[in-house]
Amino acid sequence: MLSETDPQVFKIVKEEEKRQQEKLSLIPSENFFSSSVREAVGSVFMHKYAEGNIGKRYYEGNQFVDQLEMLTQARARTAFKLPDDWGVNVQALAGSNANLSVYLALLNVRDTIMGMYLPDGGHLSHGWSYEPKKVQNPNELVYFGGSSRVNITSKIFCTVQYKTNPKTQLFDYDEIEKIAIEHKPKLIITGGTAYPREINYKRMKQIAEKVGAYYMADIAHEAGLIAAGVNSSPIGIADVVTMTTHKTLRSARGALIFANAELIKKINRAVLPGLQGGPFNHSIAGICVGLGEATKPEFKEYAQQVVKNAQKIAAELQKYDFKIVSGGTDKHLVLIDLSNKPLLGKKFARALDYAGIVANMNTMPQETRSPTDPSALRIGTPWITTRGMKEQEMEIIAKWINNVMDICAEWKDLKFDEFEEKIANNDKINKISSEVKELCIKYPLKI
Ligand SMILES: Cc1ncc(COP(=O)(O)O)c(C=O)c1O
Repeated sequence: MLSETDPQVFKIVKEEEKRQQEKLSLIPSENFFSSSVREAVGSVFMHKYAEGNIGKRYYEGNQFVDQLEMLTQARARTAFKLPDDWGVNVQALAGSNANLSVYLALLNVRDTIMGMYLPDGGHLSHGWSYEPKKVQNPNELVYFGGSSRVNITSKIFCTVQYKTNPKTQLFDYDEIEKIAIEHKPKLIITGGTAYPREINYKRMKQIAEKVGAYYMADIAHEAGLIAAGVNSSPIGIADVVTMTTHKTLRSARGALIFANAELIKKINRAVLPGLQGGPFNHSIAGICVGLGEATKPEFKEYAQQVVKNAQKIAAELQKYDFKIVSGGTDKHLVLIDLSNKPLLGKKFARALDYAGIVANMNTMPQETRSPTDPSALRIGTPWITTRGMKEQEMEIIAKWINNVMDICAEWKDLKFDEFEEKIANNDKINKISSEVKELCIKYPLKI
C-alpha cells in the first residue's frame, strides 16, 4: 500500500485527487478517464520491454503485448472507420513524438513544413522560432520564424506558417493555397491547440496535391469528436493523421498515427528505431480500453454534449460582453479575447484558479503580446461533460467567470505578485470557490 510504503508520495497523490474532485477543469486538453482505463494503465504491462512490432520483437516474452497491440489497432480501426488499406501505429509515446516520427519518415533535413502560426493556435511540434525583440506585424498573413529556434522541428526543418484571416479569425484557404504555391512545402499540416472551428480537410488536401506536398492532419484535440462523428474526419483524405489519445478521446496518455499502407511502414520505422525505445505498453492498454469505450453509443452522446456545452458557455459569455474568437465554436474549446476586459489571460487565469475554475492563458489571432502574458483565455468542456454537466451548469459557470472578472477589475493595474496577494484571500472569490465545490460534489468524479 502506497500510504504505508511511501506516505510522502501518497499525500501528494491524495491532494491532487482532492484538487481534481473539487475544482472544475476547463482546460480543453484535459479529461478524466474511466476507472477501467486507469486500471489498465496501472497494470503489469508497465514492466515489459517490447521494442519492435507485432510478431517481430527484439525481446522474448511479448505474446501478450502482441495480443494487446493487435486489439488496440483493431479498436482504433473501428473507432475511426479506417479504410482497409490504411495502417495504425499505437506506439508513439505522445502527440509530439507522433508528429516527429512522421517528419522523420517523410522529410529530409531542411525540407519545408507549413503549419498554422503558433500564436493563432498552432502547435509547437509543428515548428516554432522567433526573432527576439522583434514585434510581429499582425497584418502579415505568413510567418517565417526567426533565429531563436524554440522547437526541435524548427531546428531541423524550415518552417512557413499560415495565419488565420484577420477579419474572420478563420482559415483563409485561398491565402493558404497562395502561400503553399509560393513556398512549396514538402509537408502541410493542419490542427492546433486553440482553433475552435472545423477544418476543411478536402480543401487542404487539394492544396497539398497542387504543390506536391504530403498532408498531415493533427487531430490531437478533436479526436474524440471525430471518432463520435460529431466533427468531420480527415481519415481517407489526408495522407497521415496523428492524434493524442488523452483529450476528447478520453483514453490513456499517448498517441495514434494513421496512414496508408506504404507510409505507415516508413512511419513505424521512424517511431522505432528512429525516435524511441520501448513502447509504453501500459499506456497502450489504457488507450485500448478507451478506444473500446469510444465505440459505444454513450460516447457519441458524450461527444455531442461536449460540443453543446462549449457552444452554450460561449453564448453565455457573450451575454457578459466577452469576445469569443471566431464568434463561437464547432468543438470542445472556446477562445476568449479579453482585450475589452480589465484583466488579460495571465491574471484572469490565476484569479479563476483561486475561484476553483481551472483554465489557461492563451495567445489569440492578431496577438501582440508575449505567450507568457497573452491577451486571451482558453476554456473547454471535455472534463466537465465527463462529470455529467449540461447546459444548465454552463450558465452557472459562465456567471462565475464573469463575477471573477468583475471582482478583480479594481486590481487590474497591480503587478502580478501584488495582484495575487489581493485574490489569494478574498472573501468574494472564496465564496465562488465554495459554490464551485458544491457543484463538483453534485457531479463527483468516479475515482
Ligand atoms: C495539436 C496538438 N498536437 C500535438 C500535441 C502534443 O501532444 P503531447 O502533449 O502528447 O506531446 C498537442 C498537445 O496539446 C496538440 O494540441
